[in-house]
Amino acid sequence: MPLDIVVGAQWGDEGKGRMVDLFAEKASIVARYSGGDNAGHTVTVGEKIFKLHLVPSGLARPHTVGILGNGVVINPNTLLKEMNMLRDGGLEINPSRLVISPNAHLITPVHRALDAAQEAQRGKDQIGTTLRGIGPAYMDKSARRGLRAVEMLDEEAFADAIQMHVNFANKELTGVYGAEPLDPDMVAAEYLEYARKLKAYIGDASGMIERALQDRQYVLAEGAQGTLLDLDQGTYPFVTSSNPTAPGALVGLGVGPAWVHEIVGVTKAFQTRVGEGGFPTELSGEMATRLRGTGANPWDEYGTTTGRPRRVGWLDMVLLRYAMRVNTFTALALTKLDILSGLPTIKLCVGYRRDGKTFADLPLGLHEIDTFTPVYDEMPGWEEDIQSARTPDDLPPQALAYIRAIEKSAGIHVGWVSVGPERDQMVSFADA
Ligand code: GDP
Ligand code: IMO
Ligand code: MG
Repeated sequence: MPLDIVVGAQWGDEGKGRMVDLFAEKASIVARYSGGDNAGHTVTVGEKIFKLHLVPSGLARPHTVGILGNGVVINPNTLLKEMNMLRDGGLEINPSRLVISPNAHLITPVHRALDAAQEAQRGKDQIGTTLRGIGPAYMDKSARRGLRAVEMLDEEAFADAIQMHVNFANKELTGVYGAEPLDPDMVAAEYLEYARKLKAYIGDASGMIERALQDRQYVLAEGAQGTLLDLDQGTYPFVTSSNPTAPGALVGLGVGPAWVHEIVGVTKAFQTRVGEGGFPTELSGEMATRLRGTGANPWDEYGTTTGRPRRVGWLDMVLLRYAMRVNTFTALALTKLDILSGLPTIKLCVGYRRDGKTFADLPLGLHEIDTFTPVYDEMPGWEEDIQSARTPDDLPPQALAYIRAIEKSAGIHVGWVSVGPERDQMVSFADA
């Protein structure tokens, strides 16, 4: 069996974690290919809720092997905590279950300090990053002075490299941003401890994936963030510093394109965003509170990583069609349909309007999304609670009509619809 890629079709938090958990039932390897602990992927298994920032969500299935690909930036402190959290949750985590690519880059306290200093300097133009040091870590990577996981294998050289890294960054922290310098010895000592604990997990991730694919095993690539946060394809500069889109999976894992089979785009039944940047269908007031929830439910729209309330709005088909273009999804997974239950009407943004003209697609690109007014199709809602639906026949006709309208507008099949956070709260349209 070949490689499937699960990609966020919006601004992140689409429910990728729960979809990966579903597909991982049949996978032998689940591999994260981009981002770092800015991600927060939730997997709900009965009483257990796993909130995973770094390790692939597929590890919630005990038979899988998890990989952190070369495209990922790793905060070793977060990783070790997460490994322990999974062990506390009853899962086995050892070097035969988790493999780190030697070429994955490391996040250090320097990167976090720089992230905070850069955001403070941007003032009202801030990006609203997760302050996890993601941007500065990828900057060091592209400046060819980053620290890679493989360097943890030689303790002495690693300690020297960390000290040089801190000394170099201190000049920027103090000189450019007027921030406090970090202690190179302390950081080196801390990272040596991490190296000792993580060394055994470093392995030839790309080679393992290749061998598994040659062996006809099913490999799943797990996206983090979302298409509209992609450094190249997203709402720049309000993006992350990696490539969450499908092509990023190939670069971020060291796999060639011919292996790819399905590319599943995960989209919520509405739209959310944390952080700054354009959002044409954004809602405020009562309807926003209704879609966001108050925080009483674990699935309410508050950031898994930062706890920030997410901005919410109606599903935007202009942006979903754009996501189709840059990812070539082979199917869509529509999540959180249950949240729309009880609304008298549901709006679906099918185009944009500006200066009296209507557009079905973006005329020039995402940079101007703020200049448009959404054009909506208004559809009847449904009263029924749909959380117990398991087949298409269990869904009210209005819900089916909403799904069909999305399919028609996107020009692609919706293969799965989730109706609650639990593993089994899923309606499969795979054979429909
Ligand atoms: P990810 O970053 O794409 O993996 O998504 P997050 O985990 O950050 O956010 C999705 C949230 O919605 C989590 O709290 C999930 O448990 C929850 N969730 C996922 N699918 C559904 C669904 O169909 N219904 C409801 N009510 N919650 C869901
Ligand atoms: P998952 O994988 C939602 C957003 C941040 C900010 C921008 C840049 O859970 O979907 P960064 O810290 O990456 O430099 O922040 O990207 N962002 C996310 N938003 N879900 C995520 O991950 C995100 N990862 C980053 O809020 O707007
Ligand atoms: Mg998330």
